[in-house]
Amino acid sequence: MSLSTLTAACPETAIVLGSGLGGVADLLGVEAEVSYSEVPGWGASSVPGHAGRLVLTRVAEHPILIAQGRRHLYEGLTAREITAGIRLMHEWGVRRVLLTNAAGAIAPHFGVGDLMLITDQLNLQGTSPLLGGPHFHDMSQLYDEGWRQSLLRASGEVGMNLHQGVYAGLLGPQYETPAEIRMLRVMGADAVGMSTVAEAIQARALGMKVAGISMLTNWAAGLKPQTLDHGEVVAVGQQSSQALATLLKAALSC
Ligand code: HPA
Repeated sequence: MSLSTLTAACPETAIVLGSGLGGVADLLGVEAEVSYSEVPGWGASSVPGHAGRLVLTRVAEHPILIAQGRRHLYEGLTAREITAGIRLMHEWGVRRVLLTNAAGAIAPHFGVGDLMLITDQLNLQGTSPLLGGPHFHDMSQLYDEGWRQSLLRASGEVGMNLHQGVYAGLLGPQYETPAEIRMLRVMGADAVGMSTVAEAIQARALGMKVAGISMLTNWAAGLKPQTLDHGEVVAVGQQSSQALATLLKAALSC
C-alpha cells in the first residue's frame, strides 16, 4: 500500500492515537495503511504501545486519517521533529485533528478508564514547535469550541460520561512525583501526560481545528497508594479503546 492511496482519499480529519490506544484504528476499520517508515519525513516512535503507521478509515463515508502512534520529546527529539506529522498532514489537506493520549487523572471526580475532553492545556515541556517562528500565535482558543460541543453531544448519544478538563503536558520520561502532582493541581491541571501539547500548538498555528481526548489510564502519582507502570498504562488504554472508538464513530459520522 502506498502513501498516495491514503492521500488520494483527501481526508480532512485526522486522529492521532496515543499510548495503548492504537486498537482504536482496528475498531474503526482499516481501509488502507502505510508504515511511518514509508512516509518521508515522518519518523517512527521507539516507545512500546505505539505501532507507527498511518491508517485510512471511513466513518459514515467520511475519509479519516489515523496516525497510530506518535513521537515524544522524551525520546530525545525536538518539538519540531515530533510535530512533523502534523505539518505533513496539513500539506495533504487535513484541516482538523483530534489528538488522543493516555494521561494520569488528577481531578478527584475522575475515574481510571474514563475519558476527558481537553478544554485547554498547560505546556510545561519548556519548548515549542514554533521556536524560530512563526512568532506570537494566539492560543486563546486552542481547542475548538464547536468541535468540543459535537464531541459532548456524541458522548450523550452513546450514553458515555465524557469529563472535561485541562491537560498538562510535561517532558517526562519519568512519571511525576507526588509533589509535582500537587503543584499541577494548584496550577489548574485535571490530567497529566507527556504528549499532545506541542502537536496542538503546531496544528493551531497552521490554522487547523484541534480537539483532544485523554484516556485516564491511572491516578496521577501520590493520589492513591500505587506505583506507576507503563505496562499498566498501556493495558488500561487497550481495555478502554472500545469506548473511545464508539465515541469517535458517533462524533465523526456527521
Ligand atoms: N503521568 C504522565 N504521563 C502519563 C501518565 C501519568 O500519570 N499516565 C499516562 N501517561
